Amino acid sequence: MCVSCEDKMEGVFPDSKVDLSLLDPVFQEYQGISGSLISIMQKAQGIYGYLPIDVLKAIADKTGNKRAKIYGIATFYAQFRLNPVGKYVILQCQGTACHVNGSEEIGNAICDELGIKPGETTKDGLFTLEDVACLGCCSLAPVMVINGEAYGKLTPVKARQAIKDIYRTEKEGAGHED
Ligand code: FES
Repeated sequence: MCVSCEDKMEGVFPDSKVDLSLLDPVFQEYQGISGSLISIMQKAQGIYGYLPIDVLKAIADKTGNKRAKIYGIATFYAQFRLNPVGKYVILQCQGTACHVNGSEEIGNAICDELGIKPGETTKDGLFTLEDVACLGCCSLAPVMVINGEAYGKLTPVKARQAIKDIYRTEKEGAGHED
């Protein structure tokens, strides 16, 4: 890929300024270990919550890979995020068991409650909503997971309530900081 194509591709990623020194321990851990590129990118995402453009450049430079290759991996694999995520990530199951048990209605209620669509983050940076395939707990269908906690046997009312509870908790927390 030529330099100008690389520049164009960089436009795909949102601008961000991040502390790159947080990556140092990751580079040290994988120094000289071949085939560790994906692991480095996973760890980087674990640190920043997503893969900012400056982090991708740093990974390319440190590992001696072309930036185009790193960008290609970041955009190819669904596990990698290219945008910042909210404090709470809601994974809404779209698997078969959940679908036949009303996940569409629940999804509509969640979108309405948050004012966003799947793949988006609320303006206050609190919630990111994502559609995912089977979450592996079909007996609880329909299910959503918020930051690793499963909410099963959902109804639109229950889903809305879970979100409202988090908003309330956050508000109370903010009140205590004053
Ligand atoms: S289909 Fe939703 S958890 Fe399996």
